[in-house]
Amino acid sequence: MNSKVPAQYRRVLSGMRPTGQLHLGHYHGVLKNWTELQQEYKCYFFVADWHALTTHYEDPSIIADSTWEMIIDWLAAGVDHGLADLFIQSSVPEHAELHLLLSMVTPLGWLERVPSYKDQQEKLKEKDLATYGFLGYPLLQSADILMYKAGLVPVGEDQVAHVELTREVARRFNHLYGREPDFEEKAEIAIKKMGKKNAKMFNKLRSSYQENGDHEALNVARALLEAQQNITVGDKERLFGYLEGSGRVILPEPQSLLTKASKMPGLDGQKMSKSYNNTIALRDEPEEVEKKLRTMPTDPARVRLTDPGNPAKCPVWQFHEVYSDEGVCEWVQEGCRSAGIGCLECKQPVIEAVLRELKPMQERALEYTEQPDLVRSIIVEGNEKARDVAKETIEEVRAAMSLNLI
Ligand code: TRP
Ligand code: SF4
Repeated sequence: MNSKVPAQYRRVLSGMRPTGQLHLGHYHGVLKNWTELQQEYKCYFFVADWHALTTHYEDPSIIADSTWEMIIDWLAAGVDHGLADLFIQSSVPEHAELHLLLSMVTPLGWLERVPSYKDQQEKLKEKDLATYGFLGYPLLQSADILMYKAGLVPVGEDQVAHVELTREVARRFNHLYGREPDFEEKAEIAIKKMGKKNAKMFNKLRSSYQENGDHEALNVARALLEAQQNITVGDKERLFGYLEGSGRVILPEPQSLLTKASKMPGLDGQKMSKSYNNTIALRDEPEEVEKKLRTMPTDPARVRLTDPGNPAKCPVWQFHEVYSDEGVCEWVQEGCRSAGIGCLECKQPVIEAVLRELKPMQERALEYTEQPDLVRSIIVEGNEKARDVAKETIEEVRAAMSLNLI
């Protein structure tokens, strides 16, 4: 655990766009990670259907279908609704309000400079992405994250810039609206509420940090604040800010939790992705999986069985790296280079391992497919829990922006 993240914010949030069937790339790159995180943190996982709409606005029906299929895939992969809250972004309209309010303080240049803005427009040339919604995509993501005051956001490399933008937006928001005119007085009163001993300790730690840049003191002071039972959330936010020399920390800055690039290759050795047509879907029938693997390309040097090959030039080898133990890997290396084994023979352990991995997932997926009401109720419950948190944040944000008129 990164000690820089106060315990209060040990919440993890991540979203996934519903744009098609999930495959082994998603499983190894994202879902397995989620199933581990849910054991350790308070997790919120959601279907980013509004995000999908920014690029698929012309045919939104795909989004609706994919949403339920994707939730089934999550559950099948071991994401546990008892541990994590699962919800759908558009069921929590507070995300839209926060997006709107954040948009007031977000300079246009910050959005135009996010690398994915131009990259995606280039990549998806067939789509008109010169829209207001698409430009705002990363800010909508910021609203998702800040809504739950998430400290950690598991993302791939391509999304790190979005978390970085979120940090900047949060900083600006806190700077603009966390500076109450009587901030210092309020902070001093809050310190007294901690009791004599704690107040003294807090002041000492705060000076050590502010005067000597002592980061250890900062961490200890944060832990001290977290442990306080008898001060309000508002006072805690004041003191977190007071400690660091800023205003009230209404929206804490998140950190990205970079997911290691998945080693899972596609059938052709490139990254597994639907747009490359090289995927094994989590719910492909076993016969289909077997066929895909049997016909996947190998080192082109091995035209005949007697031609030696080089695993480094073969996508099957990358599968062995994910699925096979040392013994099998040695057998491949040796057999391939000496033409001692055939490619089909070499693929057999991979086929078995992939089928073994998929089997329990497919069984669980079938159970959920047969009980659509159950899946629906899981999401209804997750939506409600998410909304409870979202409403609290929105109340605070409105109050900070003087919008709590009635
Ligand atoms: N933009 C993310 C993606 O394309 C999905 C997403 C939306 C997200 N909101 C988020 C991820 C908030 C993490 C946190 O994969
Ligand atoms: Fe690839 Fe295995 Fe064939 Fe070698 S033997 S080319 S590693 S499939």
